[in-house]
Amino acid sequence: MDDSRHTDTTQNPPDYRLGVGGVMLRDAWYYAMPAAALKRSTTVHRTLLGEPVLLGRAADGKVFALRDTCPHRGTLLSKGSFDGREVECPYHGWRFATDGSCTAIPSQAAAQRPQPQDVHAETFAAAEHQGNIWVYIGARKTQLPPVPEVPVLGDRLQLHVSMTFACNIDLAVIGLMDPAHGAFVHRSSLWRKADSIHEKHKDFSPLPESEGLGWCMDRHTASRNSRAYSLFLGGAPETEISYRLPSVRIEHARTPKYNYCGLTACTPVTADTTEVHHAMYWDLPAAPVLRAIMRPMALRFIDQDRRAVLSMQEGLAFNPPTMLVQDADTQTRWYYRLKREMLAAQAEARPPRNPITPVTLTWCS
Ligand code: FES
Ligand SMILES: [Fe+2]
Repeated sequence: MDDSRHTDTTQNPPDYRLGVGGVMLRDAWYYAMPAAALKRSTTVHRTLLGEPVLLGRAADGKVFALRDTCPHRGTLLSKGSFDGREVECPYHGWRFATDGSCTAIPSQAAAQRPQPQDVHAETFAAAEHQGNIWVYIGARKTQLPPVPEVPVLGDRLQLHVSMTFACNIDLAVIGLMDPAHGAFVHRSSLWRKADSIHEKHKDFSPLPESEGLGWCMDRHTASRNSRAYSLFLGGAPETEISYRLPSVRIEHARTPKYNYCGLTACTPVTADTTEVHHAMYWDLPAAPVLRAIMRPMALRFIDQDRRAVLSMQEGLAFNPPTMLVQDADTQTRWYYRLKREMLAAQAEARPPRNPITPVTLTWCS
């Protein structure tokens, strides 16, 4: 996206402007799939950031990831077979262990090259954590940052839903994090009405460096028009929300009795297609009943966001002038600003510096 289309309506320096539109940040963990969907001794194909990834779970339960193109002629390895230990390419039967080492090239006579020891399939770091599978996309192979994690409820993944948005990652991320659209996009006679809009003040702080580049909306009592929460948790909860680049939002809500955590992660499939994943954790009773109620609700919510984002995308295709207002759009500015800082840090081979300082933001929603 071009900077010049965005008008600053405030005294802020113009460094938030949308100069990194659609760039897919590398050297980061991306949400690949819920762990329960990957059975032992099976593999699946995923495209992440335009890269073909074979995700597999070995017979011993360990998750692994290979570049899903055969080093011989490029066939998708995930179209072949997997016996729980080795992947076999469907075209000429080359075989690969889960660490990428080649174990068989059936067409080669003993005196010919290459032999299996000469060939290696590329691997990706994969991690299974709290019921989710993450894949690290980037050149780095060691000293990887920790995978995102929810507090308190890590062993209680109750529900995962996902949806594909036909837009780049930036539009998906800023569409989901936007704080002022709820009363319009998610309007509901049950829990959110347009006339419930009121002024809010929220304290923000930078994310601790060890957790990556991002920010935190400090713990606060959920607002009175978040009735969905109150219904769900049986009382007004305290909520804390963090956002971490490239695309992970973690929310923790708690009442004296119960906890709820939501992990939302956007994964670019390609430059203009993004998967939105939402993993939900809770410790309330009657989990199966709640799951049955929550699944369609969660899908409806995300689909409302999807349609809102696609409408914005359709408008932006006309290259209109736009504006980012204070303070309702401040998190959108931060997102772009941090993304630019991450790209600069990667280009200069230095650790990123978080430019966010503690601040209270005010908006009506
Ligand atoms: S393309 Fe995979 S073995 Fe030939
Ligand atoms: Fe939304």
